[in-house]
Amino acid sequence: MFLVLPDPQAVAAYVSNHLIQLIQKKPTAVLGLATGGTMEPVYQQFVQQVSALQLDVAQLHSFNLDEYVGLSQAHPQSYNYYMHQHLFNLLPFTEAQLHLPDGLASDWQAECQQYSTRIQQAGGLDLQLLGIGSNGHIGFNEPGTPFDSRTHVVELLERTRQDNGRFFSSMDEVPCHALTMGIQDILEAKEILLVVTGEHKAQTMLNYFQSPASEDMPATVLKQHSNVRIVMDNAAASLLPETALHQAA
Ligand code: F6R
Repeated sequence: MFLVLPDPQAVAAYVSNHLIQLIQKKPTAVLGLATGGTMEPVYQQFVQQVSALQLDVAQLHSFNLDEYVGLSQAHPQSYNYYMHQHLFNLLPFTEAQLHLPDGLASDWQAECQQYSTRIQQAGGLDLQLLGIGSNGHIGFNEPGTPFDSRTHVVELLERTRQDNGRFFSSMDEVPCHALTMGIQDILEAKEILLVVTGEHKAQTMLNYFQSPASEDMPATVLKQHSNVRIVMDNAAASLLPETALHQAA
Protein backbone atom coordinates (compact mmCIF):
# COMPACT_ATOMS: atom_id res chain seq x y z
CA MET A 1 0.00 0.00 0.00
CA PHE A 2 1.28 3.47 -0.92
CA LEU A 3 0.25 6.37 1.26
CA VAL A 4 1.07 9.95 0.29
CA LEU A 5 0.86 12.70 2.90
CA PRO A 6 1.56 16.43 2.54
CA ASP A 7 4.95 16.78 4.22
CA PRO A 8 7.53 15.14 6.54
CA GLN A 9 5.64 16.27 9.64
CA ALA A 10 2.45 14.56 8.47
CA VAL A 11 4.46 11.43 7.63
CA ALA A 12 6.06 11.49 11.08
CA ALA A 13 2.66 11.86 12.75
CA TYR A 14 1.29 8.91 10.78
CA VAL A 15 4.25 6.65 11.59
CA SER A 16 4.27 7.68 15.24
CA ASN A 17 0.52 6.96 15.56
CA HIS A 18 1.00 3.61 13.91
CA LEU A 19 3.79 2.66 16.35
CA ILE A 20 1.69 3.76 19.30
CA GLN A 21 -1.31 1.71 18.17
CA LEU A 22 0.93 -1.33 17.87
CA ILE A 23 2.37 -0.81 21.35
CA GLN A 24 -1.11 -0.29 22.82
CA LYS A 25 -2.19 -3.59 21.27
CA LYS A 26 1.05 -5.41 22.11
CA PRO A 27 3.11 -3.83 24.92
CA THR A 28 5.80 -6.51 24.44
CA ALA A 29 6.28 -5.65 20.74
CA VAL A 30 9.67 -6.15 19.10
CA LEU A 31 10.48 -3.13 16.95
CA GLY A 32 13.03 -2.97 14.14
CA LEU A 33 14.38 0.59 14.05
CA ALA A 34 16.22 2.72 11.51
CA THR A 35 18.37 5.84 11.77
CA GLY A 36 18.99 8.65 9.26
CA GLY A 37 17.49 12.03 8.49
CA THR A 38 14.07 10.58 7.58
CA MET A 39 13.56 9.14 11.06
CA GLU A 40 14.44 12.25 13.08
CA PRO A 41 10.94 13.85 12.89
CA VAL A 42 9.41 10.38 13.43
CA TYR A 43 11.24 9.86 16.73
CA GLN A 44 10.55 13.45 17.77
CA GLN A 45 6.78 12.96 17.35
CA PHE A 46 6.91 9.50 18.90
CA VAL A 47 8.69 10.75 22.04
CA GLN A 48 6.18 13.60 22.42
CA GLN A 49 3.17 11.33 21.98
CA VAL A 50 4.46 8.54 24.24
CA SER A 51 5.20 11.09 26.95
CA ALA A 52 1.81 12.80 26.58
CA LEU A 53 -0.01 9.45 26.75
CA GLN A 54 2.29 8.12 29.49
CA LEU A 55 2.55 4.95 27.44
CA ASP A 56 4.48 2.14 29.09
CA VAL A 57 7.55 1.25 27.00
CA ALA A 58 9.18 -0.98 29.61
CA GLN A 59 8.35 -4.26 27.88
CA LEU A 60 9.35 -3.31 24.34
CA HIS A 61 12.45 -4.61 22.61
CA SER A 62 14.17 -2.88 19.74
CA PHE A 63 16.69 -4.06 17.15
CA ASN A 64 18.40 -1.48 14.98
CA LEU A 65 19.11 -2.19 11.35
CA ASP A 66 22.75 -1.25 11.22
CA GLU A 67 25.91 0.26 12.65
CA TYR A 68 29.16 1.57 11.19
CA VAL A 69 32.21 -0.64 11.61
CA GLY A 70 34.86 1.05 13.73
CA LEU A 71 32.69 3.63 15.49
CA SER A 72 32.24 3.29 19.25
CA GLN A 73 28.90 3.95 20.95
CA ALA A 74 30.31 7.28 22.12
CA HIS A 75 31.13 8.46 18.59
CA PRO A 76 28.58 11.18 17.67
CA GLN A 77 28.07 9.67 14.19
CA SER A 78 27.56 6.11 15.39
CA TYR A 79 24.02 4.84 15.06
CA ASN A 80 24.11 3.84 18.72
CA TYR A 81 24.74 7.49 19.62
CA TYR A 82 22.01 8.66 17.20
CA MET A 83 19.45 6.31 18.78
CA HIS A 84 20.27 7.47 22.30
CA GLN A 85 20.15 11.11 21.22
CA HIS A 86 16.83 10.89 19.34
CA LEU A 87 14.94 8.20 21.24
CA PHE A 88 16.51 5.99 23.88
CA ASN A 89 17.60 8.76 26.30
CA LEU A 90 14.27 10.54 26.00
CA LEU A 91 11.98 7.76 27.27
CA PRO A 92 12.33 5.39 30.24
CA PHE A 93 14.09 2.53 28.42
CA THR A 94 16.68 0.28 29.99
CA GLU A 95 19.73 -0.81 27.99
CA ALA A 96 18.68 -4.48 28.12
CA GLN A 97 15.71 -3.67 25.86
CA LEU A 98 17.80 -2.03 23.15
CA HIS A 99 19.85 -3.93 20.61
CA LEU A 100 22.27 -2.65 17.97
CA PRO A 101 25.04 -4.44 16.13
CA ASP A 102 28.38 -3.71 17.82
CA GLY A 103 30.57 -1.60 15.55
CA LEU A 104 33.64 -2.54 17.59
CA ALA A 105 33.06 -6.31 17.77
CA SER A 106 36.31 -8.27 17.71
CA ASP A 107 34.77 -11.24 15.84
CA TRP A 108 32.53 -9.93 13.03
CA GLN A 109 31.23 -13.30 11.99
CA ALA A 110 30.12 -14.19 15.53
CA GLU A 111 28.58 -10.75 16.06
CA CYS A 112 26.56 -11.04 12.84
CA GLN A 113 25.37 -14.57 13.54
CA GLN A 114 24.40 -13.68 17.11
CA TYR A 115 22.50 -10.57 16.00
CA SER A 116 20.18 -12.48 13.64
CA THR A 117 19.76 -15.19 16.29
CA ARG A 118 18.91 -12.64 18.99
CA ILE A 119 16.10 -11.23 16.78
CA GLN A 120 14.66 -14.72 16.37
CA GLN A 121 15.01 -15.48 20.08
CA ALA A 122 13.06 -12.31 20.87
CA GLY A 123 10.21 -13.76 18.81
CA GLY A 124 10.96 -11.93 15.54
CA LEU A 125 10.21 -8.36 14.58
CA ASP A 126 6.60 -7.23 14.93
CA LEU A 127 7.28 -4.14 12.89
CA GLN A 128 10.32 -3.00 10.92
CA LEU A 129 10.79 0.70 10.19
CA LEU A 130 12.81 1.36 7.06
CA GLY A 131 14.20 4.33 5.20
CA ILE A 132 15.57 3.97 1.68
CA GLY A 133 18.97 4.96 0.31
CA SER A 134 19.08 6.86 -2.97
CA ASN A 135 20.42 3.66 -4.62
CA GLY A 136 17.55 1.63 -3.19
CA HIS A 137 19.39 0.15 -0.20
CA ILE A 138 17.47 -0.87 2.91
CA GLY A 139 19.45 -1.14 6.10
CA PHE A 140 22.93 -1.07 4.58
CA ASN A 141 22.05 -3.82 2.11
CA GLU A 142 23.56 -2.34 -1.01
CA PRO A 143 22.53 -3.30 -4.58
CA GLY A 144 23.52 -6.89 -5.30
CA THR A 145 22.91 -8.16 -1.75
CA PRO A 146 21.25 -11.60 -1.88
CA PHE A 147 17.63 -11.59 -0.76
CA ASP A 148 18.38 -14.51 1.61
CA SER A 149 21.13 -12.65 3.49
CA ARG A 150 21.33 -12.50 7.28
CA THR A 151 23.23 -9.92 9.34
CA HIS A 152 26.57 -9.31 7.63
CA VAL A 153 29.41 -6.84 7.14
CA VAL A 154 29.10 -4.73 3.99
CA GLU A 155 31.49 -2.52 2.13
CA LEU A 156 29.58 0.73 1.64
CA LEU A 157 29.26 1.96 -1.92
CA GLU A 158 30.75 5.34 -2.72
CA ARG A 159 27.26 6.79 -3.36
CA THR A 160 26.13 5.78 0.13
CA ARG A 161 29.30 7.23 1.69
CA GLN A 162 28.70 10.47 -0.23
CA ASP A 163 25.02 10.58 0.85
CA ASN A 164 25.97 10.04 4.50
CA GLY A 165 29.01 12.32 4.31
CA ARG A 166 26.71 15.22 5.24
CA PHE A 167 26.72 13.99 8.85
CA PHE A 168 30.55 13.93 9.11
CA SER A 169 33.01 16.83 9.06
CA SER A 170 35.00 15.34 6.17
CA MET A 171 34.64 12.44 3.73
CA ASP A 172 37.79 10.83 5.20
CA GLU A 173 35.86 10.22 8.42
CA VAL A 174 32.98 8.33 6.75
CA PRO A 175 33.46 4.61 7.49
CA CYS A 176 33.88 2.24 4.55
CA HIS A 177 32.12 -0.71 6.20
CA ALA A 178 29.01 -1.35 8.24
CA LEU A 179 27.17 -4.19 9.92
CA THR A 180 23.63 -4.59 8.69
CA MET A 181 20.67 -6.81 9.34
CA GLY A 182 20.22 -8.97 6.25
CA ILE A 183 17.37 -8.78 3.78
CA GLN A 184 15.96 -12.09 5.02
CA ASP A 185 15.94 -10.74 8.60
CA ILE A 186 14.01 -7.68 7.40
CA LEU A 187 11.61 -9.74 5.30
CA GLU A 188 10.69 -11.89 8.31
CA ALA A 189 9.20 -8.88 10.11
CA LYS A 190 5.44 -9.29 10.45
CA GLU A 191 4.89 -5.78 9.20
CA ILE A 192 7.10 -3.25 7.39
CA LEU A 193 6.79 0.53 7.18
CA LEU A 194 9.02 2.15 4.55
CA VAL A 195 9.23 5.88 5.22
CA VAL A 196 10.33 8.20 2.41
CA THR A 197 10.42 11.98 2.39
CA GLY A 198 11.91 14.71 0.23
CA GLU A 199 12.28 15.54 -3.42
CA HIS A 200 15.77 13.97 -3.46
CA LYS A 201 14.06 10.55 -3.05
CA ALA A 202 11.53 11.05 -5.89
CA GLN A 203 13.69 9.38 -8.57
CA THR A 204 14.44 6.49 -6.18
CA MET A 205 10.71 5.93 -5.65
CA LEU A 206 10.08 6.00 -9.40
CA ASN A 207 12.87 3.40 -9.82
CA TYR A 208 11.26 1.33 -7.06
CA PHE A 209 7.87 1.50 -8.75
CA GLN A 210 9.24 0.58 -12.19
CA SER A 211 11.54 -2.24 -11.08
CA PRO A 212 10.43 -5.84 -10.51
CA ALA A 213 11.72 -7.46 -7.29
CA SER A 214 15.44 -7.56 -8.03
CA GLU A 215 18.66 -7.74 -6.04
CA ASP A 216 19.83 -4.78 -8.15
CA MET A 217 17.50 -2.62 -6.06
CA PRO A 218 17.24 -4.15 -2.57
CA ALA A 219 14.07 -2.27 -1.54
CA THR A 220 12.12 -4.03 -4.30
CA VAL A 221 12.20 -7.18 -2.15
CA LEU A 222 9.35 -5.52 -0.24
CA LYS A 223 7.13 -6.38 -3.22
CA GLN A 224 7.35 -9.98 -1.97
CA HIS A 225 6.06 -9.13 1.54
CA SER A 226 2.36 -9.26 2.31
CA ASN A 227 2.20 -6.47 4.89
CA VAL A 228 4.12 -3.42 3.68
CA ARG A 229 3.09 0.20 3.89
CA ILE A 230 5.10 2.81 2.00
CA VAL A 231 4.52 6.19 3.61
CA MET A 232 5.74 9.12 1.51
CA ASP A 233 5.39 12.86 1.44
CA ASN A 234 4.23 14.66 -1.70
CA ALA A 235 7.80 15.52 -2.67
CA ALA A 236 9.02 11.90 -2.58
CA ALA A 237 5.95 10.75 -4.53
CA SER A 238 6.14 13.58 -7.07
CA LEU A 239 7.43 11.45 -9.99
CA LEU A 240 5.09 8.52 -9.44
CA PRO A 241 2.24 8.17 -11.92
CA GLU A 242 -1.23 8.60 -10.44
CA THR A 243 -1.99 4.93 -11.16
CA ALA A 244 0.90 3.83 -8.90
CA LEU A 245 -0.85 5.17 -5.85
CA HIS A 246 -3.82 2.86 -6.32
CA GLN A 247 -1.66 -0.28 -6.52
CA ALA A 248 -0.23 -2.55 -3.88
CA ALA A 249 3.22 -1.45 -2.71
C1 F6R B 1 19.62 3.69 8.53
C2 F6R B 1 19.46 2.85 7.36
C3 F6R B 1 19.48 3.41 5.97
C4 F6R B 1 18.67 4.72 5.85
C5 F6R B 1 18.75 5.25 4.42
C6 F6R B 1 18.05 6.59 4.30
O1 F6R B 1 19.58 2.93 9.71
O2 F6R B 1 19.33 1.68 7.51
O3 F6R B 1 18.97 2.46 5.07
O4 F6R B 1 17.34 4.49 6.20
O5 F6R B 1 20.09 5.39 4.03
O6 F6R B 1 18.73 7.54 5.06
P1 F6R B 1 18.15 9.01 5.23
O7 F6R B 1 16.91 8.90 6.03
O8 F6R B 1 19.22 9.76 5.98
O9 F6R B 1 17.90 9.55 3.86
